Amino acid sequence: MQSDPQSSPWAPDSWRVKPAAQQPVWPNDGELKRVNAQLSSLPPLVFAGEARQLTQALGAAVDGRAFLLQAGDCAESFTDFTADGIRDKLKVILQMAVVLTYGAGVPVVKLGRIAGQFAKPRSSPTEQVGDQILESFRGHMVNDDLPDPAARIPDPNRLITAYQQAVSTLNLLRAFTKGGFADLGQVHAWNQQFVASSTQGKRFEDIAEGIDRALRFMAACGIELTSEDTLHQVDFWTSHEALILDYEEALTRRDSLTDDWYDCSAHMLWVGERTRQLDGAHCEFLSGIHNPVGSKVGPNATPDDVIALCERLNPGRISGRLTLITRFGANAIEAGLPPLLRAVRDEGHPVLWVCDPMHGNTFTADGGRKTRRFDDIFAELKGFFAAHRATGTWPGGVHVELTGEDVTECLGGVEDIVEGQLEQRYTTTCDPRLNARQSLDLAFSVAELLRA
Ligand code: PEP
Ligand code: CO
Repeated sequence: MQSDPQSSPWAPDSWRVKPAAQQPVWPNDGELKRVNAQLSSLPPLVFAGEARQLTQALGAAVDGRAFLLQAGDCAESFTDFTADGIRDKLKVILQMAVVLTYGAGVPVVKLGRIAGQFAKPRSSPTEQVGDQILESFRGHMVNDDLPDPAARIPDPNRLITAYQQAVSTLNLLRAFTKGGFADLGQVHAWNQQFVASSTQGKRFEDIAEGIDRALRFMAACGIELTSEDTLHQVDFWTSHEALILDYEEALTRRDSLTDDWYDCSAHMLWVGERTRQLDGAHCEFLSGIHNPVGSKVGPNATPDDVIALCERLNPGRISGRLTLITRFGANAIEAGLPPLLRAVRDEGHPVLWVCDPMHGNTFTADGGRKTRRFDDIFAELKGFFAAHRATGTWPGGVHVELTGEDVTECLGGVEDIVEGQLEQRYTTTCDPRLNARQSLDLAFSVAELLRA
């Protein structure tokens, strides 16, 4: 999928001659080369055939026959890494998917921001912590978040640790989703204790009851349910921002069936708002891999920019290949999005439009914590649906930062977290996440928007 006939042909390393934003300055080139060589020899995390299946599933969402739920941590952590944490994140994503499917009657494509989401783009190369000016924390794939100059020095060995953590995360996810945990008969068990007691948790129990009744009814009618895989397993896909290109290149492999290149670090990869330059290294890299890919799109993007992005990343106009994840901010979306939707529609580009209502609504609270208001997040989603309704296009999905844990990082929601409570359980490695109750709350609201 070469997109620029003027330049030299695409290769997994052709990004190296382009300007690469947001790359760490590794202190030791020899060490980086050794790590790259080691990573290149390690097994892939996902297979090309799976990436193709996801492209197909996303294609259904382009056509309005499905809805994408892309969710997970802002940044996965090396230190806060447990089986329970993965299980609880999966629980809340499965709960949200059930609410959306049951409430709105659309199939939901479940895509984690997980098993590779270890690197962060930063607005500034340095940050102030207390009275120290430190190199910015760039995610555990690069350096450590401890407030200590030595901890902030990029270490290429972290790429290997990231790979290993992604492997064990994905292994557990595969076991959970194919081994019985995601069985529709288990739907009650996904409602965690601290969620079940809330209003939203009770609403979820009602749905779970309804599903139980439907299953009992079908069984009573003599329908053989045990052999129906779709009732007992789910397809759960992985994605992350393709930021650290040494890592992505090392995991890019040629598919033996098609001879095409796939980035086997995840099923889907995206470029961020800070790295989506058309002539930059990140778009160069994504342009040649055959996975489904995405790009964030912020309020400064013009219709021409977006069309150029479509041409650059999906010149073959393959449905499901390209997801555009808009992140405008609650105040900008309703006016800003329609011109982009119209331009893409008029050019006939197949795009899956997804709303990230998180990154345009971040601010720093008085105590110094980055946070987001639940009301702003929901307002951006409402604006997203309104923009699509006005244009006659399909609001294809949501992209949210969440955790299954009972954190206090985003304000508002059913439990109405206020600024003074942010300190109580603020554990994110980077941006503030919705907790499990807020996530479920959001899913009910999105289901209503979808029904309308
Ligand atoms: C993110 O998704 O965590 C992120 C940094 O987003 P954006 O590129 O939209 O700022
Ligand atoms: Co983030």
